[in-house]
Amino acid sequence: MSLFRNDVYKGLESQPKTLPSKYFYDAVGDQLFRQIMRMPEYYLPAAELEILKTYSGEIADYLLTDKESFEILELGAGDGTKTLVFLQQLNDKGLDFFYRPLDISGHILEKNQQFISASLSGISMEAIEGDFFNTLDSLDRLKESRLTMFMGSNIGNFKPKEAVKFLRFISEHSKSGDLFLIAFDLKKDPEIIINAYHDSQGITAKFNLNLLQRINNELGGDFDIASFKHYASYNPITGLTKSFLISKKAQTVHFSDGESFNFKAYEAIHTEVSCKFDEEKIEYMAGAAGLTKLDWWKDSKGYYSLVLLKKE
Ligand code: AVI
Repeated sequence: MSLFRNDVYKGLESQPKTLPSKYFYDAVGDQLFRQIMRMPEYYLPAAELEILKTYSGEIADYLLTDKESFEILELGAGDGTKTLVFLQQLNDKGLDFFYRPLDISGHILEKNQQFISASLSGISMEAIEGDFFNTLDSLDRLKESRLTMFMGSNIGNFKPKEAVKFLRFISEHSKSGDLFLIAFDLKKDPEIIINAYHDSQGITAKFNLNLLQRINNELGGDFDIASFKHYASYNPITGLTKSFLISKKAQTVHFSDGESFNFKAYEAIHTEVSCKFDEEKIEYMAGAAGLTKLDWWKDSKGYYSLVLLKKE
């Protein structure tokens, strides 16, 4: 059985039902995510870009200390458009670095490579296709020092315990003195957060529902997409934003191999967490992973932060 089918069946058998958010990103999901990134309610990309534009110079100063050449490993790098702002600043300051974007999508990496090399002529770079948990284990080190970047608030898509495990995992794959630049979305007015995950144009709803369409297309399911609805909630205490797909009626979903799953009316499938953090939580998580906070930068509204961590 494929991993995708196995994960879907396991999730639909559990109580409450779940589906992993990593399966949002088929071709249609990628396209819808690009639309989300451009929505006015989805404040995250603009906040990240503002921080990079304002503070890349300051961040670069932390890398200047010993002037030696280092590598930048960007996990889940995407198309590189925002990273360019940072790389350009390092370049302007005369830093000698080797850029290694790592992403699960070969298609996105190709775009990254074309875009970055066309924008920063002479840049040394190597794109790495793969899942970071598997790839980091076998990845060689090109330079003595490494800066690992994990942008886009992707850390928020881990459940809090998994996020600590992830930080510990990258910490264990690092050397003393290595640095980490990680983007954390911050707790803020709950209405702003809810609007980002329940937008007025219904793009996030399409993005979430597309997971059922993907299951129909690739696993021979017969989800009636119109009989499910998107729902998002935010808990201001835990900082957890959760997305669900709600079955609007009692129904049974069948698969072409004979498998089937029953839904009660208004039963939910939990599809995603997008965790929001505060300073104490970030420091606690970093400490639990053996990392120390060197500095952090926020956008002018205080919505979002980039945190620089160091492995002692
Ligand atoms: C990729 N990730 C950080 C996004 C988030 O905000 O959790 C995915 C997303 N889900 C709904 N909108 C955007």
